[in-house]
Amino acid sequence: MARVGAVMMMKDRLVDQAKKLASSGPFVRLVSNDRVMKLATGLMDARGRLQAAGVRASEALDILWNGYELPTIDPALDDSMPVHDAGAPRERPQRPAGGSAGTNGAHAAHAGGEGSTSGAHGRAAGATNGAAHGSTNSAAKQSVEGDEAESAGGDGRAATSGYKPDAGSAEAKLATQMASRTSLSRLGGRDVFEKCFKFMTADNARAMGVYPFFRPLDFNQGPEAQLEGRRVTMFGSNNYLGLTTHPKVREAARQAIDKYGTSMTGSRLVNGSMRLHNELEEKLAAYHGKEAGLVFTTGYQVNIATISALLSNKRCVAVIDKDDHASIYDGVRLSLATGARMVRYKHNDPASLDAALSELPETEGALVITDGVFSAQGEIANLPGIVEVVKKHKARILVDDAHALGVIGPGGRGTAAHFGISDQVDLMGGTFSKSLASIGGWLVGERKVLDYIQHFASSFLFAASAAPPCVAAAMAALEVMQEEPWRQEKLRENFTYMRNELRRLGFELGKTETAVIPIYIRDDLKTVMMWKSLLDEHSIYVNPFITPGVPPKQQVLRTSYMATHERHHLDQALSAFEKVGKKFGVI
Ligand SMILES: Cc1ncc(COP(=O)(O)O)c(C=O)c1O
Repeated sequence: MARVGAVMMMKDRLVDQAKKLASSGPFVRLVSNDRVMKLATGLMDARGRLQAAGVRASEALDILWNGYELPTIDPALDDSMPVHDAGAPRERPQRPAGGSAGTNGAHAAHAGGEGSTSGAHGRAAGATNGAAHGSTNSAAKQSVEGDEAESAGGDGRAATSGYKPDAGSAEAKLATQMASRTSLSRLGGRDVFEKCFKFMTADNARAMGVYPFFRPLDFNQGPEAQLEGRRVTMFGSNNYLGLTTHPKVREAARQAIDKYGTSMTGSRLVNGSMRLHNELEEKLAAYHGKEAGLVFTTGYQVNIATISALLSNKRCVAVIDKDDHASIYDGVRLSLATGARMVRYKHNDPASLDAALSELPETEGALVITDGVFSAQGEIANLPGIVEVVKKHKARILVDDAHALGVIGPGGRGTAAHFGISDQVDLMGGTFSKSLASIGGWLVGERKVLDYIQHFASSFLFAASAAPPCVAAAMAALEVMQEEPWRQEKLRENFTYMRNELRRLGFELGKTETAVIPIYIRDDLKTVMMWKSLLDEHSIYVNPFITPGVPPKQQVLRTSYMATHERHHLDQALSAFEKVGKKFGVI
């Protein structure tokens, strides 16, 4: 105490003396002198300029070394984050000196390594994405040439792409552009909009009529839809059971609007809960054989809220499959901010999970998180193997069944039910936006756990609740699903037929066992050109997945199937796939 008192007295004396000096005549004259003021200001400016130059130099070095990298759209693809490799020494991704940890640097650092954003995607040293500003199509057209010229320093992906368009053709220009797509996410400078003005790829693709994304449908009736005036057969929707147009589901949504209005305009915590929400929660819990259910506004929110609420301090670890959905990664990102850690295990590999969990100290709690059906691959998680490892290590498990509900398992109950192990899975969640023909999300598990989440997940507490027509539609869809089991059977029949036929034609489909069937093309330009040909020449709508949404060489035409597809829809698609596959040399 005496020491603290002495220090305080000394501090007071110093402050007194400083005050006296500051008000003394010579000091006031000195600091009022113009020349002294200029010198001081100059010195301060020079310091700022030096600091700015230092930042620019470090950025320049970083870019020289790395090239601009593609922004990581899907964090599952960020290979700069280590993946636990059973039996092999821990990877430690290399980062060049002077590089700054990018978007996902935090993940890597927590997992024992360092990393820059999306290391796998862009090593196109020196390539930029066209310097021309402009968001109009004419500006985009002009910049095509510019992009081409600048892409000379690209990584040459186009040259090895496999699809060789005629030299000088529009496709050749597009190929060069796609090869020169470079990351903008790390562009720094005073103006945070700079990267937006330098983003030209979408404008260029729009100008060339080959831009596949954000295209508005005129109407969507399940297997048939209309896109910008053209009737198309739909193979790009997650409307697995075809319930978005079911009379009972439509009527439930209409009645909910009539009775409750269009929105709750508030969070579940306060004015955003209705009996309707509680009723659906009870039904979901009973359907899955769990104690309680919780309804969210989206499936994305389910993962963000659940993971961030449960993994809330530095003794928590998220142990996730490398190929988990982006919403799981984003939930983990929030947890990292509270000091939690992330460990990734090899895709669908219980041995890798076992090794990862074995390394955790006794004092740390792990939540293992996996997709039930992987959204890009259509592959079913090896849940029995994963659950066995989870139990062995006394960890907890959350399964995201977005693509499994209504598709697999008795009564469409999803992955755990498919394997008969629902009672061993702690938490199961998903979305209303696929089989349940609505918008919203769900989680089922123990009442106390859900109660904790609903009181501590900020993304749940501070966001408006699911709108009444959405909740009512999902509830009606859940009922129809059980009343009309033929839908799940027909869906299975449809995707099994397509899987067998596509394989017979010679397409590569990976490990799909469900209603998502990716057709591997493994080349950006070819994927886009095949998508365009399927749409323009055959009126077949599929989704092209290209880089940076997927890693290089993983490009696919992602197809998905519905219970309401008739055999003639499927045969129309098969005939189109065969023609287009041959035209582009895929089969
Ligand atoms: C596996 C998975 N989880 C979560 C989501 C997010 O669900 P929602 O669309 O309801 O936000 C999706 C995609 O829709 C998904 O595929």
